[in-house]
Amino acid sequence: MKVLFVCLGNICRSPSAEGVFRRAVEQAGLALRITVDSCGIGDWHAGNPPDERAQAAARRRGIDISGLRARQLRREDFYAFDYILPMDYGNLRDIRAMAPDAHGAHIELFLAFAGIPQGEVPDPYYGGEQGFEEVLDMIEAASQGLVEHIQAAG
Ligand code: 4NP
Repeated sequence: MKVLFVCLGNICRSPSAEGVFRRAVEQAGLALRITVDSCGIGDWHAGNPPDERAQAAARRRGIDISGLRARQLRREDFYAFDYILPMDYGNLRDIRAMAPDAHGAHIELFLAFAGIPQGEVPDPYYGGEQGFEEVLDMIEAASQGLVEHIQAAG
């Protein structure tokens, strides 16, 4: 089972989701079964670590995302991953526009797994520190939901 989180820049929301979900997977004892990665729609930050504010917010919850490096979404991802989970509708549109005709990935807004079908994780890039906390709250809820979903699916 391979899960890919997608946001715009891959320096705030999706690397946070990667770190939070990876910990949830480890705590559920599923680390050998589930592979986690993240990427961005754009390539402006490719090769860069997560935003300092995202790193700090994650660190406050005991999660180290400092080693992650941004990369852009690529066509091979649609064949390599089982779940491609965007943070907002803009990401969802861009992913669908790029998707090859035949691919096996399930594409859905990440917050659907928090029981919020139309929910978006808001871009915290231009806001303050509180925005990063709110993003982590949403991501934690959706990560738990996704773990339970995968467990239920067997
Ligand atoms: P992210 O946040 O999509 O959560 O990584 C952003 C980071 C950078 C930019 C936009 C969103 N940017 O325009 O550079």
